[in-house]
This record gives sequence, C-alpha cells and structure tokens, in this order.
Amino acid sequence: MSLKNKLRLLITGGSSYLGQHLTPQATAVYDTLYTYFQHDPLNSGQRERLDLRDETAVLRLITDFRPDVIIHTAGSNRGADMAAVIRLGTRHITQAAQQVNARLIHLSSDVVFRGDAPPYAETAVPSPINAYGRAKTDAEAIVQSYPHHVIIRTSLIYGLDVMDHGTAWMAQALRAGQPVTLFTNQIRNPVWVETLSQACLELVDHPFTGVLHVAGRQVMSRADFGLRLLDYWDIRERDTLFMGPTGAGEWPLNCELDLRLATAVLRTPLPGVDEVLAGFPLR
Ligand SMILES: NC(=O)c1ccc[n+]([C@@H]2O[C@H](COP(=O)([O-])OP(=O)(O)OC[C@H]3O[C@@H](n4cnc5c(N)ncnc54)[C@H](OP(=O)(O)O)[C@@H]3O)[C@@H](O)[C@H]2O)c1
Repeated sequence: MSLKNKLRLLITGGSSYLGQHLTPQATAVYDTLYTYFQHDPLNSGQRERLDLRDETAVLRLITDFRPDVIIHTAGSNRGADMAAVIRLGTRHITQAAQQVNARLIHLSSDVVFRGDAPPYAETAVPSPINAYGRAKTDAEAIVQSYPHHVIIRTSLIYGLDVMDHGTAWMAQALRAGQPVTLFTNQIRNPVWVETLSQACLELVDHPFTGVLHVAGRQVMSRADFGLRLLDYWDIRERDTLFMGPTGAGEWPLNCELDLRLATAVLRTPLPGVDEVLAGFPLR
C-alpha cells in the first residue's frame, strides 16, 4: 500500500520507554509520525520535537499532519513538570484530536486506583492516592469528554532488550552499594513492552471505545518481579538488596487489574512475566 493510502498515526512520546518499542513497529504498518521532547533515541523516520504544554504547537502539529489515530504515550511519572505535562498535555491533545476527528488512544496507569480493593475492573471508580495517580485520573476525565477514545490502563512495563526504568534504577543503586528495598506487598500485573505495543497497534483500527485494562496476566509482588529481572539482567551485586513489606505509603499496595475484558476484546495475548521469560535465555 502506498503511503498515501495508509492510516496516518501520531505517537506522542516516541522517545518514551513504550514509544521506543512501539514506534518502529507502527512505522512498518502506518504512515507514522512521532514526537519527542528532550531526547530522541530513535532518531529516524518522521518526527517532530513537541512540548505538550504548548497548546499552539500541539494544535499546529496535529492540524498539519491530520492523523487518523493518535497514540498518546507521553506523560509518565518521570520529569519535573510531570503533573502539567499529563494534565495540560492531555487537554491539548484531546482538543486537537477533536479538531481533526482522530481516534485517540491514551495511555493511563493502574495507579489511578487506591490499591485496597483488587482486582480492578474497567468499571471501578478511580481513587488515586498520589500526585501521579491524581494527574492520570484527571487526564482520563479529559479524554473521556471526547467520545472517539480508548483509555488503556496498564501496569509496570518491562522489556528484555532495553532495561526498563525501574530495573535500571535498581541496577545502578546496587552497583553503587546503595540500599534497595523490594516490596513484598505491592502487587501489580507487569506487562511486557512487546505485548503493550502490540495491543496499542491492534486498537488503532478496532471498533472498541472506552477503558481497557491491558497488562500481563501474572499477578505478582514487586519483590518477585524485581528478582526475576535482576536475574534476567544478571545483576549480581545484591549485598544492599532488602525485601519486605511497605506501610501505607505514597504508592498503592494492590493494583491488580481485571483483564477479562481485554482478553475478550483483543487477539493480542497477555502473557505473564514467567511465560515471557521462559522464551528468553538469561543474559
Ligand atoms: N513505565 C511504566 O511502568 C508505566 C506503568 C503504567 C503506565 N505507564 C504509562 O505508559 C506511558 C509510557 O510510559 P513510559 O514509562 O514509557 O514513559 P517514559 O519513558 O517516562 O517517557 C516519558 C515521555 O514523556 C515525554 N515528555 C516529557 N515531558 C514532555 C513535554 N513537556 N512535552 C512532550 N513530551 C514530554 C518524554 O519525552 P523526552 O524523553 O523526549 O523528553 C518521553 O517521551 C505513560 O503514559 C505512563 O503513564 C507507564
């Protein structure tokens, strides 16, 4: 198919951990343009630097490119101006999507939940307990004001070719002899970045609208998850590694996501961590 006949796809945050995996796969299928802000690890293909807080710039980019679909990955829990990037950025993206009637696929998080009433179905009412969760909850409400949307709530993202943010932080701290505590009572459904990328792409041209929980089907503690990845990446420095429960703190305890709707809606399989790791030799 010529570029002219392909769906036009805009990915915000092509430089994010998810975006770096998603964008090359998207480019192979769609007429894809990605945005970055301060880093451009991909550095190839159609791309533009964009500050999502700049309403005029967002509107200009989107009315120029006229995407059929936008996958809005930018706006994570990292970065100094995190809350503004999430709230304002999502507002600008939603307004611009409306201008060009684009389907909007928005990445959200399991931490919109308080973590005391798992498993969480798509119908559960968000009840965030920290600033990141509150910003992502507000962003969801903004996206929901525009009917042509999908909100993907997901869990801890990991990959086996590029180290995820959490493991990279742990590895650096352990190698520097700094204490790292892995919590035995923080429960999540970690998701392989390939699974999440595939699900995002499946939803590009799909009739589903609304909220969808997309994560790995293995429910596990951060301690078990952390140990699996330290083993996989062969991080042997563990003298300063501790394990134990955390008290009621800044992060919700059990955010297990109910994946029944995603399993019914998507062809993309949702393997758990051990299923994924079984297919890969240790490093
Ligand atoms: N990682 C996880 O475990 C996890 C879990 C649940 C949900 N999620 C959600 O999944 C999505 C992707 O997460 P991630 O961890 O892959 O993200 P990430 O690696 O932390 O990347 C954040 C992205 O936001 C961009 N960004 C920051 N400030 C910006 C600004 N002012 N204007 C435009 N872009 C800006 C960054 O661009 P530059 O790098 O170019 O500056 C980068 O592309 C996020 O929506 C996150 O909430 C992630």
